[in-house]
Amino acid sequence: MLGHLPNFNPDPILFLIEQFKADNRATKVDLGVGVYKTDEGHTPVMKCVKAAEKRLLETQTTKTYLGATGNQDFSDAMSRMVLGEELFETIRPRLVPFQAVGGTGSLRLAADLINKAAPGGRVWLGEPSWANHHAIFLAAGLTLERYVYCAPMQTELDFQSVLDAARRASRGDVFLIHASCHNPTGVDLSLEQAKAVLDVLHERGVTPLVDCAYAGFAAGFEPDLHIVRAVMSRFEEAIVCFSCSKNFGLYRERVGLLMVKSESEEIAARARLGISSIARQNYSMPPDHGAAIVREILASPELTAQWREELEEIRLAIHRKRERLSARANIAPVLAALQRQNGMFSLLPMDRTLVPRLREEFAIYMTADARINVLGVPDGMEDYLVDSLARVTR
Ligand code: LMR
Repeated sequence: MLGHLPNFNPDPILFLIEQFKADNRATKVDLGVGVYKTDEGHTPVMKCVKAAEKRLLETQTTKTYLGATGNQDFSDAMSRMVLGEELFETIRPRLVPFQAVGGTGSLRLAADLINKAAPGGRVWLGEPSWANHHAIFLAAGLTLERYVYCAPMQTELDFQSVLDAARRASRGDVFLIHASCHNPTGVDLSLEQAKAVLDVLHERGVTPLVDCAYAGFAAGFEPDLHIVRAVMSRFEEAIVCFSCSKNFGLYRERVGLLMVKSESEEIAARARLGISSIARQNYSMPPDHGAAIVREILASPELTAQWREELEEIRLAIHRKRERLSARANIAPVLAALQRQNGMFSLLPMDRTLVPRLREEFAIYMTADARINVLGVPDGMEDYLVDSLARVTR
């Protein structure tokens, strides 16, 4: 039976982890998967996470089942922080905060829920986007409506194209928006642009779905949530997929949150049961450890303050790295726009055929679309990266 399996392509981002590991060259540079790295190239466990784990070890008395919704204290505390106290309380009766298996898991729950409400429904997705967005929505049975977000080889937003797409979307459609630190381009909507797009979506009765995986990496935790908060306060129906992978450094623990706001309490109750049954049929219930860590941090003002500080350190490290690399644009012009962009990722405006060449000749790893994780280059390797980019793009 299994002999009839078709051929599958390896995941374009995760496969790089294996390829990089297998490379024995001393000069190898991993600009692939999006993880924070210190200047020395290490991805540490945050201190607040270690402290929370210690508390859990001492205080946790049971590991009994929690149910498909997972750790409700985590989901409530996280939603409260993400939305702010007032908005959370205002929309609470119509809000379903649901623990998910990472940001990816929250997207898949959302996609399956949308497909239950509108089988084969349309999701508007700007190109380029995170490679897994396409895969998740298509796997759920939805239809993709693609439009240009950032034209190939360009480092600026094609705002007119985004606005036109919003105008073409109609009631019953879902429109995906990256909250901040757009993956893979690093090119975000400004406050005014986001407002203009949301105005159109609101007028047309389109449901926004905000993917928020990097809150805290652009302008700061609260400022990075402006689109999330705007959709949750203005729209009768809105979906937010939130990831704790990067901003809590909990990558492998798989901690995410799905927030669904419905038009009425009655619909919200149906949505909750719908999401629960999707979760139950897939993985029964999410793993608890990561969510328990976040809950422990958010329950303690002292640990929350520590987390905010550590998050700010990461944000500043990203900004420093971007500044340093774009200052070398005189040598490698493809780095010029880095300083204007946000978050871990930027898409280098270069021919994609250079990506395998950089890997094979220089042991520099990036995704096939020429996306780089700017934090992937340790301080000591910056010259090597800049010179290698200069050589292949000359
Ligand atoms: C990335 O884009 O590198 C991250 O979001 C990790 C992932 O799961 O792809």
